Amino acid sequence: MSEKIQRVGIIGAGQMGAGIAEVCARAHVDVLVFEQSRELAAAGRARILRSLDRGVSSGKITEREREQTAWRLRFTSDLGDFADRQLVVEAVLESEEVKTAIFAELDKIVTDPQAVLASNTSSIPIMKIAVATENPERVVGMHFFNPVPVLPLVELITTLKTSETVAKRAESFAADVLGKQVVRSADRSGFVVNALLVPYLLSAIRMVESGFATKEDVDKAMVLGCAHPMGPLALTDLVGLDTVKSIADSMYTEFKEPLYSAPPLLLRMVEAGLLGKKSGAGFYQY
Ligand code: CAA
Ligand code: NAD
Repeated sequence: MSEKIQRVGIIGAGQMGAGIAEVCARAHVDVLVFEQSRELAAAGRARILRSLDRGVSSGKITEREREQTAWRLRFTSDLGDFADRQLVVEAVLESEEVKTAIFAELDKIVTDPQAVLASNTSSIPIMKIAVATENPERVVGMHFFNPVPVLPLVELITTLKTSETVAKRAESFAADVLGKQVVRSADRSGFVVNALLVPYLLSAIRMVESGFATKEDVDKAMVLGCAHPMGPLALTDLVGLDTVKSIADSMYTEFKEPLYSAPPLLLRMVEAGLLGKKSGAGFYQY
């Protein structure tokens, strides 16, 4: 019988890492967040506090809960501080090289043989990350959705090597502690959601690129015609154009299907630093 997970580590405090840290801290879990520098850690903390403020202003949490949640969040720039973590969720940029280097180091630091080492990757097959460790049975994919405090889904991805005890521990943490709904996916690039969603986003970019329709009309069409909460170009801006490109590249590498190939307009915008909401401009200005 594994111990209840009470000590969580989050690697990265960008959009996703901050969101995952926030929901864990709101669920009364002790949260330690790794960022590469003090400046990035301060920016990550500010991001979480803004989101908590939003929770207070929309009546979702009280002032007291906001304060207590903020207390449960600590930051570090030394991965060595993760030695006592029972669950670590990695949420750094979508790069196989960066993620495997982190997992190789993390595997040596986290001592508990029943600890769960999870990646929030959008598309990289988990086995590619797991084989960077000496204990691949501890590695799973725990894929959260953006914005994490709002969207109730977590995809759980197990590999050919993941132990079922570790998978059940991750699943029960997501469901029973965080209150998320869990679906399981095979270890295939993009998992369930992005394998369906990203070709749609890429098609919308191709539509705009070819002059088929304006970005405003493509977005309006999907919001009003299909009741989506936002159109595909606004959603690409929310996810981050760099991330959408990396997801497309990873799925193209896996399946070799043209529908996954990143259109030139997306490549040019990423090269220009037009990454969407996080950089202040993408298909729209923020
Ligand atoms: N923190 C806490 N609460 C938040 C929040 C945040 N960061 N952002 C929004 N909310 C809450 C608001 O308080 C509001 O709650 P109430 O309705 O109870 O008042 C609710 O969420 C809706 O927010 P808003 O009214 O401010 O804004 P909106 O109605 O325009 O919704 C949105 C914003 C939630 C982003 C919505 O447009 C949406 O769901 N869009 C689609 C997002 C989506 O598809 N995400 C998946 C991306 S793919 C992915 O994540 C996987 C990947 O690997 C790339
Ligand atoms: P982001 O750009 O907001 O944050 C990137 C994070 O990676 C930051 O914390 C940054 O400090 C860190 N980082 C960058 N380079 C690094 C390096 N060399 N070493 C260590 N850390 C580094 O990205 P995000 O949107 O939070 O995405 C993070 C992960 O979550 C990615 O794997 C992405 O595919 C996945 N994801 C993203 C979304 C989304 O909608 N954006 C949804 C689900 C999953």
